[in-house]
Amino acid sequence: MVEVSVGQLARASLAISMAVSLTALLLAFLKPQAHMILASTAISITFPLTVYIPFLTGLKSGSPSKGLRGLSSYYFNKTSEVQLSRCSGVSAGSGLGSSNPKDIIDFLVKLSREEPVPSSGMMFTHSYETGDPVLRDLARKAFELYMDKTMLDFTVYPSLVKLERDVVSFVARLMGGGESTAGTFTYGGTESIILAVKAARDFFKSRNPDLVPEIILPYTAHPAFVKAAVYLGLKPALVPVNLESFKVDLNAVQERVSRRTAMIVGSAPNYPVGVVDDIRGLSDIALDRNVWLHVDACIGGFVLPFFKDLGEPIPDFNFKVDGVYSISVDLHKYGYTPKGASVILYKDRSLRKYQFFAYSRWPGYPLVNTVTLSTRSAGPLAASWAVIKYLGYDGYLKLSSKILNAKKRLVEGIKAVGLKILGSPESSIIAFTSEEISVAQLSLSMKRRGWIIQVQPGSIHLGFPQSIHLTISPIHEGLVDAFLRDLRESVEEVRSNPFKISVEDLVKVAGIRASLSELVEKLGLSREVIVEDETLLLISEAIRMLPPDFVETMLVEVVNEIVF
Ligand SMILES: Cc1ncc(COP(=O)(O)O)c(C=O)c1O
Repeated sequence: MVEVSVGQLARASLAISMAVSLTALLLAFLKPQAHMILASTAISITFPLTVYIPFLTGLKSGSPSKGLRGLSSYYFNKTSEVQLSRCSGVSAGSGLGSSNPKDIIDFLVKLSREEPVPSSGMMFTHSYETGDPVLRDLARKAFELYMDKTMLDFTVYPSLVKLERDVVSFVARLMGGGESTAGTFTYGGTESIILAVKAARDFFKSRNPDLVPEIILPYTAHPAFVKAAVYLGLKPALVPVNLESFKVDLNAVQERVSRRTAMIVGSAPNYPVGVVDDIRGLSDIALDRNVWLHVDACIGGFVLPFFKDLGEPIPDFNFKVDGVYSISVDLHKYGYTPKGASVILYKDRSLRKYQFFAYSRWPGYPLVNTVTLSTRSAGPLAASWAVIKYLGYDGYLKLSSKILNAKKRLVEGIKAVGLKILGSPESSIIAFTSEEISVAQLSLSMKRRGWIIQVQPGSIHLGFPQSIHLTISPIHEGLVDAFLRDLRESVEEVRSNPFKISVEDLVKVAGIRASLSELVEKLGLSREVIVEDETLLLISEAIRMLPPDFVETMLVEVVNEIVF
């Protein structure tokens, strides 16, 4: 059976429509008296072909607005082939009413090949790469073995209890924990953070039932804390960081802490610039006011202890510091496990129970959830266990020494091309800025050379500079020279051809608080060009210039209306 995608249909119909229209025009020119009949015939053929089909196909998949979006995407959206192949795959082919497995995988391979490869070493964000194919293969096999088992019911799969205990106790030891330290395996940093905030909230509520709890957050803390506060009904109290060191301002914390404070947060390190907050200083305040201190070591948990053992001057940040109640540590970052793996730790088992949830007032199974989700694959846990077993302390130490070596050379090289490193990052993340060139434009120049580096737009309202974030992986040790050579060339390219942007337009938009449609028009956003280079530069500049509350509204609207 020949498969015809709706995209092909739409293009064919457009071609027929154009042919009919041209013939009509020609005949009307040659025989003016036939002009009205021909014109209406042309319209009655072209309209259904060019408009109805795509519109109705869009409608079929959902709402009237989808009908409109269907119309635009069939004609203008470069990814329409993807959606349409998906549609045709569902309705045609053999087996269980779908395409055959080989075609499906071939299609995924094709899709995937068009994107950056996480294991390539070309990415300085979203990827934590050892460069060891044996590790990747091991993780994949362990994942596959446990993929279909659910972590919901440990009475059915008791091996999951063993795997989780082993993983948690390895991380607890890394974090300077002792006998009483307890923790849980979660699906990611955000989940670990949400659970810690819930535990702190319920702990606080058990002592202060009538107060609305607050959480003190440095501006550099990960947004997951604000998200947790919003989800769980705590009031976020944002405190400034020193804009030279990027460490939290302890005086500001001291001033903000009150009897309503349920949690103080410090990062080890923060994501934007890789700097470790003064955890001892925060601990002094927390102990003095009897407040829960959380350390976010999602990034640093598997790096800082090894950097310290390699002789780096790493400040104390873990359970060795008295006031620390809980620590989040991601495995799917520098633990080098597949995505969907993190650990939340508590200094004492008695604190952990505040994150749990139990329920028995229904006719079904008695439910006790240690985390937010119920049914979830045990694949990430098994893969994490296998990777930790494979690497052990020595493996992580070796990988950290590669990162350290790469980091030192990168810092020197970046400074040498006239860019400025932000703060004095102690960890495996660095960020740089420039007063001379747009580093957002620089990122695009690097992208053309194959490198994925992350733009942090900054904000004129909050005083944050536009910067580039680099998450350094062990694999980068062998790529530093190539990276720096391309960086030098890119800086020259941007210097000689700076991006001209209509700041005036942006200010106008900011001034009048434009509606989404006006903004979309001003920035030239559309489903089709959302990830094109010039658009990315404009978006980045808009985020830098516009007030944060407006930016947040815009981000939600754009993603809701245009992206998905
Ligand atoms: C310091 C820090 N905390 C928390 C998170 C959130 O982790 P996840 O993306 O796994 O939810 C991140 C993610 O980058 C992070 O860098």
